[in-house]
Amino acid sequence: MNASLVDSRGRPIRDLRVSITDRCNFRCVYCMPKTVFGRDYPFLPKTELLTFEEIERIARIFAGLGVRKLRLTGGEPLLRHEVERLIRLLSGIPDLELTLTTNGSVLSHRAQDLKAAGLQRVTVSLDSLDDAIFRRMNDSDFPVARVLAGIDAAANAGLAPIKINMVVKRGTNDGEIIAMARHFRGTGHILRFIEYMDVGSSNGWRMEEVVPAAEIVERIGAVFPIEPVDPGYAGEVAERWRYRDGGGEIGVIASVTHAFCAGCTRVRLSTEGKLYTCLFAQSGYDLRQLLRDGKTDAEVAAAITAIWHARDDRYSEIRGAQSVPQKKIEMSYIGG
Ligand code: GTP
Ligand code: 5AD
Ligand code: SF4
Ligand code: SF4
Repeated sequence: MNASLVDSRGRPIRDLRVSITDRCNFRCVYCMPKTVFGRDYPFLPKTELLTFEEIERIARIFAGLGVRKLRLTGGEPLLRHEVERLIRLLSGIPDLELTLTTNGSVLSHRAQDLKAAGLQRVTVSLDSLDDAIFRRMNDSDFPVARVLAGIDAAANAGLAPIKINMVVKRGTNDGEIIAMARHFRGTGHILRFIEYMDVGSSNGWRMEEVVPAAEIVERIGAVFPIEPVDPGYAGEVAERWRYRDGGGEIGVIASVTHAFCAGCTRVRLSTEGKLYTCLFAQSGYDLRQLLRDGKTDAEVAAAITAIWHARDDRYSEIRGAQSVPQKKIEMSYIGG
């Protein structure tokens, strides 16, 4: 056990996010726009994906290096065949919290099985309660009612506390901020508003479409009085707020206007087993090759340790001050 592994900026390694498929049944305009992710898009072939056994092995090595939370993401992780079997494998790793980020589309009939397999909680992406706006944003004509049913099923299965992620785009769904707050107040679910990010190279990001977290807080506070809450843990991504009347908690994720790189303890594993030390990294380190070359756990751990020691990423802090990289990795590949 090496719990003192820190990077060149003194940041420990705590949170491993694993993308288990680069595919998704939605085409959210800010993530997988149809113009880029069309019929002919070259998604990874099955042989390129890490197997469940490979993922479990890597996760175990990371846990030995200090990782305490593992998040399965994608793409849409519930599209990966038999993900419950993977969860069962991962739940055998001691001292590791197991969570998953999903679009909620198939959660209503999977929540019980996921819980039984050992999943502890879920985060569900939901950008609007208005069916027309929601369908426009997922660009797959998917109805909001089915996601809401998925959230209810997750709550009934005990996958709590449930977090709801809303990416806010000015002119698209910022008119839904108050309706979302009203809907989830008092449910025990934690609604988080996410600033629209310049991740990937395909969403046509423009600063004018970002609604700053401060503005979101102000708009909600004008309707429902709120007060700040201390961070739940070092390096927490969301700034927390609570309703003064006891209606529960919300969060804002200000990755554009108030970068949180200084406390960033996250590492990402892409669908094909490349390790990325930043969401905005341009290249990753091929861990899959090490496994398939027959390296021992100790050799893989040594490689990860060297990468983490050298890490100095802080893209969100210096964006703007630098020229934007030509080609960034898509979020559906590297994991949300
Ligand atoms: P929990 O506290 O375990 O619920 O997780 P979390 O707060 O890290 O939240 P989650 O993993 O759901 O991340 C929420 C959103 O924040 C993501 O979907 C991204 O949009 C954004 N985000 C998460 N991690 C990073 C990061 O490292 N850098 C940047 N710039 N944005 C991030
Ligand atoms: N900006 C902010 N968040 C994004 N996500 C995907 N693309 C973006 C973006 N451009 C978030 C989604 C989902 C998670 C998987 O990633 O809201 O919750
Ligand atoms: Fe799919 Fe999530 Fe990306 Fe939407 S944000 S396209 S649901 S991976
Ligand atoms: Fe971490 Fe990179 Fe995001 Fe900064 S931009 S918080 S270093 S993943």
